[in-house]
Amino acid sequence: MTDILPIPQMSPSAEGDAQATATAVYHDGSQREIHWNDREEPFPNGKLIVSRTNLDGVITHANAAFVEMSGYTREELIGVPHCVLRHPEMPRAAFKDLWETVSAGNKWHGYVKNLRKDGSFYWVYATVIANVRDGKVVGYTSVRRKPSRTKIDEVVQLYREWLAAEDAA
Ligand SMILES: Cc1cc2nc3c(=O)[nH]c(=O)nc-3n(C[C@H](O)[C@H](O)[C@H](O)COP(=O)(O)O)c2cc1C
Repeated sequence: MTDILPIPQMSPSAEGDAQATATAVYHDGSQREIHWNDREEPFPNGKLIVSRTNLDGVITHANAAFVEMSGYTREELIGVPHCVLRHPEMPRAAFKDLWETVSAGNKWHGYVKNLRKDGSFYWVYATVIANVRDGKVVGYTSVRRKPSRTKIDEVVQLYREWLAAEDAA
């Protein structure tokens, strides 16, 4: 089992975007200052963004498109929990559903807003599956493709409602 590395710090862009800042608390109890803004990085046409994790959601593989879109270097990503990309506007219920689905051996599909190192974001349509070796789940793979704008608009509204419900609870 490889060591789990701490989530790297963000480096928000100095381009004058309106920034929000908060302390994110992750599932393992670790914390980090996050910064985000309203700048969207479009999903690259004709590409797939791929990563693999171990059973704990620690990144073990990232393709070139993943590295590029995240804004981190590959060295900063490998060995780090996947929540390094968690955007504060993503409801927890989405990830709960993801983990319940894939740990039961099923395929998960969903729309995810990801936070880049510089505070901007990108939307993906993700498919997550379990990697099975000798009948045992040894990790997970996520393949993301470009989502349709219509779907994103629907999901933004839905996630806003879920987040409000989570904040109220
Ligand atoms: C294969 C795989 C890929 C994942 N990809 C992402 C991702 O792109 N962005 C993200 O925020 N979480 C992703 N997750 C979910 C994270 O592991 C984590 O549950 C989520 O970021 C919420 O983090 P938290 O529970 O620490 O707050 C992925 C999980 C798996 C198993």
